[in-house]
Parts: sequence; structure tokens; C-alpha cells
Amino acid sequence: MCGIIGYIGERQVLPVLLEGLRRLEYRGYDSAGVVFLENEKIKVIKVKGRVFNLAEKVFNNLPQNPEAPGLGHTRWATHGEPSDENAHPHLDCQRKLAVVHNGIIENYYELKKELLKKGHKFNSATDTEVIVHLVEDYVNQGLDLRSAFFSALKKLKGAYAIGLISKENPEFIMVARNQSPVIIGIGEKENFLASDIPALLPFTKNILFLNDGEIAILYKDKVEIYDLEGNKIERNPIVISWDLASAEKGGFPHFMLKEIYDQPDAIKHTLLGRIDLDNQEIDFLKEGLGKEFFENIEKIFIVACGTSYHAGLVAKYLIERNLKIPVEVDLASEFRYRSPLINSKTLFIAVSQSGETADTIAGLRLAKELGAKILSICNVLGSTIARESDIVLYTQAGPEISVASTKAFVSQVLIFILLTFYLKKLFYNKNDNKEKIEALIKLPHILKEFTEKVHSEIKKIAQKWYHIENCLYLGRNILYPIALEGALKLKEIAYIHAEGYAAGEMKHGPIALIEENIPTIVLSAKETGIIYEKTLSNAEEVKSRRGPIIAFVSEASEEFNKIAEDYIEIPLTFYEFLPIFYVIPLQLFAYEMATLRGCDVDKPRNLAKSVTVE
Ligand code: AGP
Repeated sequence: MCGIIGYIGERQVLPVLLEGLRRLEYRGYDSAGVVFLENEKIKVIKVKGRVFNLAEKVFNNLPQNPEAPGLGHTRWATHGEPSDENAHPHLDCQRKLAVVHNGIIENYYELKKELLKKGHKFNSATDTEVIVHLVEDYVNQGLDLRSAFFSALKKLKGAYAIGLISKENPEFIMVARNQSPVIIGIGEKENFLASDIPALLPFTKNILFLNDGEIAILYKDKVEIYDLEGNKIERNPIVISWDLASAEKGGFPHFMLKEIYDQPDAIKHTLLGRIDLDNQEIDFLKEGLGKEFFENIEKIFIVACGTSYHAGLVAKYLIERNLKIPVEVDLASEFRYRSPLINSKTLFIAVSQSGETADTIAGLRLAKELGAKILSICNVLGSTIARESDIVLYTQAGPEISVASTKAFVSQVLIFILLTFYLKKLFYNKNDNKEKIEALIKLPHILKEFTEKVHSEIKKIAQKWYHIENCLYLGRNILYPIALEGALKLKEIAYIHAEGYAAGEMKHGPIALIEENIPTIVLSAKETGIIYEKTLSNAEEVKSRRGPIIAFVSEASEEFNKIAEDYIEIPLTFYEFLPIFYVIPLQLFAYEMATLRGCDVDKPRNLAKSVTVE
């Protein structure tokens, strides 16, 4: 996720761009840049680092006569390490055009090859740069800028929010949207574009939303909207009533809730470029993950901390069930000090949202010393763990601001699901996943509806239980890690003592804890077969000791309905997808409990977003 801003009008262009970028920095902050006109030339200032570093660079090289139109960008890298060269904006060969982009161009590799053959010179490793060279190529073929822009868009596959300016057409800015948000701000003899509302609030509250597949042309005194075929679209602006604080959270009260609701989008981005639609297969080849990487692997270690460790536990059930390779999952802080049995036939998988967790880094370095192959699953491009791995798979979940990890966890689990399907095809030539891959493509839409529906039910349950001081979470099989994750969420943001347990373990001790004022959250899915019945028995053991049950179970689980005090139905799905469906209501439950208890949801006491110390 990145932040883009654009301005055309009479104001001083640089303060508008920098102020807009400052308000978009929560969307991405590994590099930033601006482009504007000066003496009829394109002028770009860009830097690795935060918007502050960009502002410093601008003021140290203060332009004499900066003029609109101008564009700005703050980056969350997806392709190409964070660097000055990879920062946006990007220019064409003749320095006549400049573009900023938020999203992922899935077919950039093929487009770049074609453009290189035609003699285009690239200065970055980004997917974005193909956009501006593609437009230039159409202009070189004799199209006017507007036709060239429309033609280029028709060749792009993937998600984009684009701003483009031309030194030869300073009277307008061209904007396009597909799957990445971009909005238009309407002013008096001035107009704006931005990724999100916060960037526009200081200048205007009159907003026009662009839809997927639409293009806008911003002049000082008018905005024209078209579809990709060039048909004009009439649309009236609306007036935004948000204040800035709520605007940065997209209208949500907290980043955590925004990020829970972002999960369908995060899944969409995690899937981008990894599903071969023609063959209905998973494809990690473009990320360097070929069959040879896994040859001779006899054991897999998955090492992580906290929520990422729980994603690793889910992976153990997925991989051993489908691939018959032994998987050991370890807490990084334990792994690094227990003389693990690692050799060149070991695959070490580090899982980390931040890519900077000290214990996980130490575990990775130990495994590397002992000869293991290193694969990492990270959310931050260019992070330490990513850079020190042989291969890294990025979750593409976008910046996760809230300390409590939610969308990154769901994306980590999804990567493991994709990896399992991919390895099954590679090594067993089994492609019995066609139905599941079709379901994956529909997953974002289904989860969006499910999140909205289940949230209203969770609110009522939280109202009833938010005063508790202790809570048990029980799950079996692939839902056991989700019981652990649900308990961690309640601990870390609502400060309630919550224990996640394997449901079968109750009779080995925890059942002594059961009391009327200690609810037990039970997770059970019919897709787990006999495990479902076993978990029901465990729930009945609790009930018979007057322990209240809060059941999160498959649709129409009448047996649970009879014994549960509260009951949340989860749609039926495939076994592999259960962790994603069951974790969402638990995230929402922890969130609602924490807000009712007046906790600081996004910045819980004693916690840091990234634990970079031992
Ligand atoms: C999760 O909600 C916590 N914030 C914490 O457990 C986190 O998952 C853990 O510190 C690992 O962080 P990482 O994924 O960035 O390595």
C-alpha cells in the first residue's frame, strides 16, 4: 500500500504535496518523492526514508520556481528494495512524463521485456516504471497523451491508482483507478487527487470517488471522468464530514478495526500474481521458488514469535497433512538456545510481519550457519529477515499499524495455504485443488460479507462478558493454533488473562479452572470430521461443571447450540481455510472487549509493534 497525492491550481505546489504526503505516511513510509514543473521542465526530488527526509531534501535544494501540476508519493515497497532510485515518481526516457502509482502491476515483467526490446531505458527495479514507459511508447507511435494513457491502461493487469503529469500538457493531470483507492478533491479553481481522504482534508471536503476501471482528467477548473472505453461519466462530489483523526483510519475508530476489515483486501493482494488462472494453479516461480529449492529437503523448521508463531503452527497441519514432510514449529526465543538438529537437508522458514524481530533473526542466522536453506514470509519488503533469506515470500498485506497483528496473520496463513497447494502440484503432480483455488479467488468477497455480519453478533456477546478477568480458549487440530491466537489477542489488547489450550488437554489439568464466571470459548468445525465430535465432548465436560460456553462453530451445529450460552456460526468452507474464517470473530471479540474496557487498542501497554530486542 502506498500513498499518492496530486495538485493542479494556483497554490504553491510543494507545500500541498508535502502536507498531503505527511498525512498519508501511515500507508507506507520506506521512501518518498515529489515531481512538479520548473521553467517548463519536469523536476523530481525523491529519497529513501520518510516524508521528513524528503522535506529536508526539498528545503536543502529549494527550487526557485516550482509550479503545479505536481505529484507526490510515499512508498510501501512491493517490487524493488527501498532506495532513492526505486522511490516514485518515475519518468519516461525523455523526461517529459512523470507517474506515481499505488498497487501491483502483475504483468510488469512481460511489459518491461517488450519495452526494453524497443530501447526504453529503465532506472529502477519497480513494477511502476513500466507504466510511464508504456505511455511514452504510445506517444512515440503518434497517439496524443490522452489516447496513449488509455491504451497503456488497457495493457496493465493488476491493481493501480495512478497519477501522471506531462511537461507538454501542464493544463491537466491524468488519473486512473483499478482496485487501489484514489479520490478526487474538488476546490475553487484547483483540484486534487489522493489515495485517501486525510491528505485532502486541509484543502477541501468536496470529494469525488473514482471506481475501478475509471479515468479522471483534472484541470484547474473542471474534472472529467471516463470509463476505459472513453465514455464520459457524470458524477457529483460529496461533502466529507470526517475529522482528520478518523479519516486516517478510514472512518474506523482504531487502526486495528480498520485492519480487520482490510483483511479481504489484504487477501486479494496476497493472491495477486500467484494464481495462474488459465491452469487454475498456484505459481511462485516468479518469486524464485522452483522445485530445485525443495529438492533433498527432509525436514522443515518453522520459527517465529507471537502471532507469527501461530501461523507456523497452522502450517504444520497443512504441510504434514498434504505433503508428508515432517514439520517442527518453534518459538524463536527457544529455538536459538536449544541446539536444534539442522543440516543441509533442512528447510528453515522464518515468519515475521516486521521482518525485524530479534529472536527470529537470531534463529535464522543460526539455521543458516548450520547449513539450512532459508525461506522467509515477511510483510515488510527489504526488512532484515527478508534480506538474509535465500527466498522471501511477501504477504503484501500493506502496513500494519496496530500493535496487534491481524491482517498480516491472515496473509501469512494464506501464503502457507498457497505454498501447500504449490508443493503438492510440484512433488505429487496432484492438482486436486482446482475447486479450492476457485474458492480462494472468491474468498475476499465472502470474508467481507462474513466480517460485517459476524461483527454485529460479536458486539452483543462482548457487552455480556467484558467484565471477566479470566477466559479459556479451546480448539483441536488446525483450530488449536487459532485458540492460541484468540487468547493472545484478548491478552494483549484487553489485558484479560486468557489461556489457549488443545481441547483434548482439558482433562489433564485446566478443567480444574472451570467456574461459573470463567467463560470457555470453544472452536469446532464440522470440516474436521471426528475432531468436531471430540471437541463437543470437551465442551460438555465444561458445561457439566457449570462453566459457560461461548461456541464458535460451523453453521447449524445444533449440538453446540444446546449447551452454549452464546453461539457464533461460521460458514462452511474447506479444511485449509478454517483458520482464516475462525480467527476473524476472535479478533473482533478481543477488539470489542478491549474497547468496552477502555483499553488503548492500537497501542496496548508494555507492547511494541516490532520486538527488535531479545
Ligand atoms: C501479535 O499481535 C503481537 N503484536 C506479537 O505477538 C507479534 O506477532 C510478534 O512480536 C512477532 O512479530 P513479527 O511478526 O513482526 O515477527
